[in-house]
Amino acid sequence: MKKILVTGGAGFIGGNFIHHLLANDPDVQVCNLDLLTYAGDLTKHAHLAGDRRYRFFQRDIADRYEIEALFARESFDAVVHFAAESHVDRSIADPQSFVRTNVVGTQVLLEASRINGVAKFVHVSTDEVYGELSLEGDELFTEQTPINPNSPYSASKAASDLLTRSYYETYGMPVCITRCSNNYGPYHFPEKLIPLTISKAVHAEKIPVYGDGRNIRDWLHVFDHCAALDLVLRKGEAGEVYNIGGRNERSNLEVVNSVLALLGNVQEMIEFVKDRPGHDQRYAIDPTKIEALGWKPRYAFEEGLKQTVEWYQENEDWWRNVLTQDDALLPGDRFGLESSYS
Ligand SMILES: NC(=O)c1ccc[n+]([C@@H]2O[C@H](COP(=O)([O-])OP(=O)(O)OC[C@H]3O[C@@H](n4cnc5c(N)ncnc54)[C@H](O)[C@@H]3O)[C@@H](O)[C@H]2O)c1
Repeated sequence: MKKILVTGGAGFIGGNFIHHLLANDPDVQVCNLDLLTYAGDLTKHAHLAGDRRYRFFQRDIADRYEIEALFARESFDAVVHFAAESHVDRSIADPQSFVRTNVVGTQVLLEASRINGVAKFVHVSTDEVYGELSLEGDELFTEQTPINPNSPYSASKAASDLLTRSYYETYGMPVCITRCSNNYGPYHFPEKLIPLTISKAVHAEKIPVYGDGRNIRDWLHVFDHCAALDLVLRKGEAGEVYNIGGRNERSNLEVVNSVLALLGNVQEMIEFVKDRPGHDQRYAIDPTKIEALGWKPRYAFEEGLKQTVEWYQENEDWWRNVLTQDDALLPGDRFGLESSYS
C-alpha cells in the first residue's frame, strides 16, 4: 500500500484531492497534514471516519522539529504539497505569514522529504508566479515564461516553487512542480470570487467587484485539477514543471454575472470597488505539456459552474459554519481593505 502525505488537506483543493485519491485508488493510504487555520475544515472528511486508509495530523509545516519527527516515524512514499496561505488580499495585509508558511514551510517539507528518501514530491504552485498578461493580447503562460510575481502571495509561492526546483538541481530530489490557474468547485472558502458571490447574493448583500471587473482569469474545475495532479504524481518526470489550465478565460464580471444568472438574481447587486493594489490583469495557461502526459479537463465551465452553484445551495450549513469561525473574518472586515477575493 502506498503512503501519501497530503499537506493542506483540510483546505479547498487538498480536501478534494484526498477525496479523489481515496475514490480512485483502493491501494492508497492518505495522511492529511494540516494546521487547521481559518481556511482548514475537517467536516468535509467526516464521511472518512472509520476508513483505515485515511489519517489526520494537525501540524504546522513551518515547525521543523515536528515535521522531521513525523517524517522519520511515518516513512511516506510521496508528498503532495498544498498547504499554504492562499488569499491575495490577506497577503497584502499581512505578508509575513505568507513567507513563513509558503516559503519556510515548503523548505521544511523539502528537507524532511530529502532526508527520509521520499520517492516523489509534488509541489502545488500557481500560475500567479508568472505575473500578468496583457488584457488585449492572446499570449499564454508556458512553462518557459519567466517568473515575475506581483503580490506578496504570488512572490511567496514563486520562492517556494524555485526552492522546490533547487532541491532537484542540487540534491537530485524527485520533485515535480505544477502551476494551475484559478480553481472553482465544492468546499471553496467563501472569501474567493465564486463562493463569495454566492454567499453575498444569498444574503442579499452587494457583491464587490474590483475596478471595472475586466481582469481575466482562466477557470478550471477543482476535480479536473485533482485528476491532473494525480497524473503528475504517477507519471510526472522528476525536475519538470507542468502548467494546468482549462483554456477557459473569463473576466471577473462575466463570472459574477454567470453566477447571478444561475441564482436568478439581477445585476444591480454588483458594486464596483477600488481596485486591489498590484491587481494582475490577465492569467491564461498553455496546458499543452500536461495534455501530452494524457490529461484533459472533463468539465465545461457552464456545467461545472451550474453544479458548483447547486452545491453551495445544498451545502449552506457548510459555508455558513466556516464563515463563523473566530478567525474567518474577511480582510475587508479586519484590515479595512475595500474588497475580498482572489
Ligand atoms: N485556489 C486556487 O485557485 C489555486 C490555484 C492554483 C494553485 N493553488 C495552490 O493550491 C494550494 C491549495 O490552495 P487552496 O485554495 O486549497 O487553499 P486553502 O486556503 O483553501 O487551503 C490551505 C490549507 O493549508 C492549511 N495551512 C495553512 N497554513 C498551514 C501551515 N503552516 N501548516 C499546515 N497547514 C497549513 C490550511 O489550514 C488550509 O487547510 C495552495 O498552495 C495554492 O497556492 C490554488
